[in-house]
Amino acid sequence: MKYYILFGPPGAGKGTQAGAMVENYHLCHLSTGELLRSEIAAGTPLGLQAKQLIEKGCLVPDEVVEGMIETQFDTVKGVEGFLLDGFPRTVAQAEALEGILAARGEVLTGVVSLMIPDEMVHERIAHRAQIEGRADDACPEIVDNRIRTYHEKTEPLIAFYRKIGKYHEIDGAGTVDEVRARIASLVETL
Ligand code: AP5
Ligand code: MG
Repeated sequence: MKYYILFGPPGAGKGTQAGAMVENYHLCHLSTGELLRSEIAAGTPLGLQAKQLIEKGCLVPDEVVEGMIETQFDTVKGVEGFLLDGFPRTVAQAEALEGILAARGEVLTGVVSLMIPDEMVHERIAHRAQIEGRADDACPEIVDNRIRTYHEKTEPLIAFYRKIGKYHEIDGAGTVDEVRARIASLVETL
C-alpha cells in the first residue's frame, strides 16, 4: 500500500489536486477537514465539538482526527493506498501516524508539500468564500488564525519529515494544470 501526505497551508490546493492523484494511483482520499465537515452536517456530538473550534480557525484535538484516520484505514478496502489531506497537522499527529502505520507493517511513501505564500492563501480563500460558503472562509480574522495556526503547529512537520527523508516540496503557485504536472513528476520518483 502507498501512503501519501498532501501537505500545505490552508488554500494551497490540497483538495483541488487530490482528485487527479486519487484517480491516477487508485487511492482513497482522506481529508480530515471534509470528514469533520460531514460530522458537523450530520449534527453528531463530535461535529458539535468540532464546529466551535473550526469556526474559530483552531485545530480539533489530536486524538479526534487520529481516531478518524485509523477507522478509515480499518474500513476502506479495494484501494492501492491512501492520500492524507490535512492530516497530520501537529507533530503529535505525525508521531501517532508513524505508530499506526508501524502497527500495520506499513511505511509512509512520502509527503507532497504544496507551498504558497500567505498573501496567496488569502486571495484563494477569499475567492472560494464566494463559491462554497465554508464557515471558516467567511471572514479575514478566521483565515488569519488558520494561517497563524499553520505556522505555529503544522510548519514544524516540515523539519520532522525532512529528518526522515520523506519531505518533498513543490511550488503550489501557477495554474491548477501546472501544479498537477509538478505533482505527477514528483510522485513518479517516490
Ligand atoms: P481543511 O478542510 O483541511 O482546511 P485547510 O487545510 O485549511 O485547507 P483548505 O481545504 O482550506 O485548502 P486546500 O489546500 O484544500 O485548497 P483548495 O484545493 O480547496 O481543515 C479545516 C479545519 O478542520 C481546520 O482549520 C481544523 O480546524 C480542522 N482540521 C482538519 N484537519 C485537522 C487535523 N488533522 N487536526 C486538527 N484539526 C483539523 O483550494 C483553495 C481555493 O483555491 C479553491 O477555491 C481552489 O479552486 C483554488 N485553487 C486551487 N489551486 C489553485 C491554483 N493552482 N490556482 C488558482 N486557484 C487555485
Ligand atoms: Mg481542502
